[in-house]
Amino acid sequence: MKRSFIYFFLPAFICFLVLGCVSSEPASEPPPPPEDAIYRNPSYTVGQRVADLLSYMTLEEKIGQMTQVAKNFLSSPNDIKTYCLGSVLSGGGMGPVKNEPGAWADMYDHYQSVALESRLGIPILYGIDAVHGHNTVKGAVIFPHNIGLGCTGNPALVEKAAQITAIEVAATGIDWTFAPCIAVPRDERWGRTYEGFGETPGLAEIMAEASIRGYQGESLEDGKTILACPKHFLADGGTKGGDDQGNAECSEEILRKIHLPGYISALKAGSGSVMASFSSWNGKKMHGNKDLLTGLLKNELGFPGILVSDWKAIDQLPGDYTSDVTISINAGLDMIMVPDDYKTFITTLLTAVKNGKVPRERIDDAVKRILTIKFKLGLFEQPYTDRSLLPLVGCEEHREAGRECVRQSLVLLKNKNNVLPLSKETGHILVAGRGADDIGMQCGGWTISWQGMTGDITEGTTILEAIQKTVSSKTKVTYSRDGSGAGKADIGIVVIGENPYAEMEGDRQSLALSTMDINVINNVKKTGIPIIVILISGRPLIVTPEIDKWDAFIAAWLPGTEGQGIADVLFGDYNPTGKLSHTWPADMKQIPINEGDNDYDPLFPFGFGLSY
Ligand code: BGC
Ligand code: BGC
Repeated sequence: MKRSFIYFFLPAFICFLVLGCVSSEPASEPPPPPEDAIYRNPSYTVGQRVADLLSYMTLEEKIGQMTQVAKNFLSSPNDIKTYCLGSVLSGGGMGPVKNEPGAWADMYDHYQSVALESRLGIPILYGIDAVHGHNTVKGAVIFPHNIGLGCTGNPALVEKAAQITAIEVAATGIDWTFAPCIAVPRDERWGRTYEGFGETPGLAEIMAEASIRGYQGESLEDGKTILACPKHFLADGGTKGGDDQGNAECSEEILRKIHLPGYISALKAGSGSVMASFSSWNGKKMHGNKDLLTGLLKNELGFPGILVSDWKAIDQLPGDYTSDVTISINAGLDMIMVPDDYKTFITTLLTAVKNGKVPRERIDDAVKRILTIKFKLGLFEQPYTDRSLLPLVGCEEHREAGRECVRQSLVLLKNKNNVLPLSKETGHILVAGRGADDIGMQCGGWTISWQGMTGDITEGTTILEAIQKTVSSKTKVTYSRDGSGAGKADIGIVVIGENPYAEMEGDRQSLALSTMDINVINNVKKTGIPIIVILISGRPLIVTPEIDKWDAFIAAWLPGTEGQGIADVLFGDYNPTGKLSHTWPADMKQIPINEGDNDYDPLFPFGFGLSY
């Protein structure tokens, strides 16, 4: 008896254990779908196709679909297939080795082909921050950042800019833009002030709808439209002190009155996705706030689309990674921008589901939302890039639209003795300042790279080039970076402002002009000629101590590549119409200052702007 146990039963028992463990996963895999499965057939409704596809999916495949990886963190493109990844993104500045539109399309098609080799052949959604044009791609048209678009007061123009952006993004294959940012920035110290349309909920409301209509068009299936993603839900622009990723301290009434209206109109326009905010509301991180993510956004407002996390944002929740994953998915996030260690994310969520910490219904709901968007985008029928769109990237017609946005975004704040518009026959114009001949500075952050940078980073027209192109052949135009040598000029145009920045890198305690910029102006001023100051900046800067010395002052925001729009205004081909999307504070002590405040006494009020 003893013997037979040792020689027979024990080995058999061990064998059973080992085999049991090894075979448990494959055994749970449903049979492969038939060739003519419903989900593969576009004559069925999206709902039928989603339900069918879901029925074939393993838990692992479902979790893969909820995973978004930044392209530079893929150990191998093959992992898209192995893990059935739902989405890949280009983080700021992440593109193909050669930064040109065709190479982007090749890159996209390669990732897509790997996704289609997966067991169920589910295409990926590829996402990027195309926040003012297809801004990571060299040669694309770069539109003004949203703060400038807000000053146009022209939703039709904002819709057009988004439509053009969608075409340029689609030309490189990409399906999804993390835009528009519909933050309502209430404190200009915030480094993301320029990403919002302005300080009032009204602007967010009007422009969110226009912009989403532009990106998504009538139908997501149209090859020239892309999925939009209003961000960052909720109250990213309301943080105390303008701290990036900080804490919005306000009542629910203020939350709904100031920060919510943009989302209501974004959903009305049919936005297929929304991104959650890094920030907190009254001390609680948005990524773990079920009341707001599920209660408000999904239940109360009825948002049917994909709620995506921000970059590694769940890691900021209190507790260990298991709790980060559990809390955020249960709070209502459908897709996680992991964006790096996806293997850990996947095993963590898998374990949490198996342990009953995350209900399977929550997973099915998330995957249903993701697949629905993929079917609606027509990705199963048209997974690859439509290369016929490539010649449109940065084409003349698109640049003309960019120029129109620039003209309408400029705000003329001072025009003493009607020094503007200038005559195209002016004898000698001195152009000065580091911003006058710098495409990178004109574009600001989120251009080619995450932070943006000064210099000749992409194609476009600098302000100096635009002036040279506009004046008569007899006019002499000289450029002096530091403003010296202004001797015999008739007029000085000085272009100053902020160097590019993005996100927390742009948070500032002081918004004073730099000494370097003040010196340039003073050098030109010394010669006694009238001075026109053009400010390139992501927000109002404090100009009170200096402005009396200037004859004219134009806020140009971050206009992008089409500097010709600035010359159009300088020389009167366009009579300025732009109106401030932000209150212009007289000094730092006034900040935060916003339209409707008590004791409102700014340098220029919200909505201010001169014409000729
Ligand atoms: C930003 C988002 C952006 C994401 C992807 C985050 O750091 O907050 O606005 O969409 O990165 O680049
Ligand atoms: C990425 C950005 C991202 C940021 C978040 C950067 O490294 O390129 O896309 O928004 O990190 O902090």
